[in-house]
Amino acid sequence: MTAPALAMEAAAQMTQKTFKLTDPESGRSSALPVRSGTIGPAALDIATLYKDLDVFTYDPGFGMTAATESGITYIDGDAGVLLYRGYPIEQLAEKSSFMEVAYLLLMGELPTAKQLQEFTCNIRYHTMINEWLLRFFNGFHANAHPMAMVSGVVASMSAFYHDSMDIHNPRHREIFSHRIIAKLPTIAAAAHKHSLGQPFIYPRNDLDYAANVLNMLFAVPCEPYQLDPVACEALDLLFVLHADHEQNASTSTVRLAGSTGANPYAAISAGVSALWGPAHGGANEAVLSMLEQIGTVDNIPKYLAMAKDKSSHFRLMGFGHRVYKNFDPRAKIIREMSHKVLAALGRSDNPLLELAQRLEEIALKDEYFLSRKLYPNVDFYSGIIYSAIGIPRSMFTVMFAIARTVGWVAHWQEMISDPGMRIGRPRQLYIGATRRDYVDIGRRA
Ligand code: ACO
Repeated sequence: MTAPALAMEAAAQMTQKTFKLTDPESGRSSALPVRSGTIGPAALDIATLYKDLDVFTYDPGFGMTAATESGITYIDGDAGVLLYRGYPIEQLAEKSSFMEVAYLLLMGELPTAKQLQEFTCNIRYHTMINEWLLRFFNGFHANAHPMAMVSGVVASMSAFYHDSMDIHNPRHREIFSHRIIAKLPTIAAAAHKHSLGQPFIYPRNDLDYAANVLNMLFAVPCEPYQLDPVACEALDLLFVLHADHEQNASTSTVRLAGSTGANPYAAISAGVSALWGPAHGGANEAVLSMLEQIGTVDNIPKYLAMAKDKSSHFRLMGFGHRVYKNFDPRAKIIREMSHKVLAALGRSDNPLLELAQRLEEIALKDEYFLSRKLYPNVDFYSGIIYSAIGIPRSMFTVMFAIARTVGWVAHWQEMISDPGMRIGRPRQLYIGATRRDYVDIGRRA
């Protein structure tokens, strides 16, 4: 069944059941219909609540609020299930590739061989960036964080690709999708080369997506660069695992920015910035810093005590998730991959991997973590793989952004093609001063 058909089926079930909410003081009530999707918990439709009862809902962090219907990704956080367009992440990780997953997320179905070839070809032939965009990097200090450069340069793309920016034109949206997915690695690699003071390496259209990323990051013009197939495989897998995760903070940011009708490059740039935070995509960088800070197995109890201490800001990075209250299925796959990569690269004795495993073991026996259902998330092991294949820590979140761009674009497309799209605009519970009159400056205490 196609994604639009799934959405229609969900909408058709919308009014089968209602909840009645009554104001005990006025006796006024509101009948709130239940919307049920194809799987997962139903949602109470509160659109008439304010009109009927003069109240809004209060939900800090939007933990209980479905802001949209979506047919892209499904998560069951209690059971540790993640589906892209209905396909379990474990099957996609084992059998698919990043390009195939990108097609699936964007188009709703797995491609035929011909469709995959055409899609891959479209992405390959959009990998170069306008030479003027490259000059932007010269405005950054060498020590600028690559995420700062990437978000700035992505936002600037809107100044270069005017020919396809009508967000209501499906062909323009398609061209935009291909451009951003193809060019993000080129921009990311340019940021890395700028930090190193090395010449920029142009994309190679004979390489597949992950191999091209590694080549642009590590090749230099003066000698041939030998791509490692294990590194290419590992990076492609990490891209598959990071490609989408339903309404997470950065995707919601893209949707919110995009809902204003802003150009899509601006919306994706907003997503890059949101992803950078250590509570979100920045955690992969923070995990490695934390492991280095912990240093040895003997220090684990001290750091666990700090993580549990509410007066300390220290949290166990790579642990916990807003939605998963069970093992993050991506973390299981990445943990296995980290062993394979380190063994293949002759680094099985990696002290950080050993430390991570011991930390996981000890934390998962600890009442604090068990009772709060805090398990390792996708980023607990990803940094270990990235560093084993030579990617510097400051580039970890950039790698995440490359993969997540596919999810951001899929959600942006889904939102813009929805005829019922509205600007995203949350309400608030005002707790500031009540009305008061202006006091002239000379009369203020
Ligand atoms: N270390 C120690 N305690 C934690 C941690 C942690 N990593 N995560 C949550 N807790 C505690 C909280 O202090 C809280 O305790 P309390 O009930 O005694 O007050 C309880 O567990 C619930 O935590 P919340 O903050 O309500 O969980 P929330 O859903 O808001 O946050 C988040 C989820 C941001 C991921 C959090 O677990 C965290 O900060 N983890 C570390 C950062 C991280 O790894 N982020 C990557 C997430 S995956 C991704 O975005 C790609």
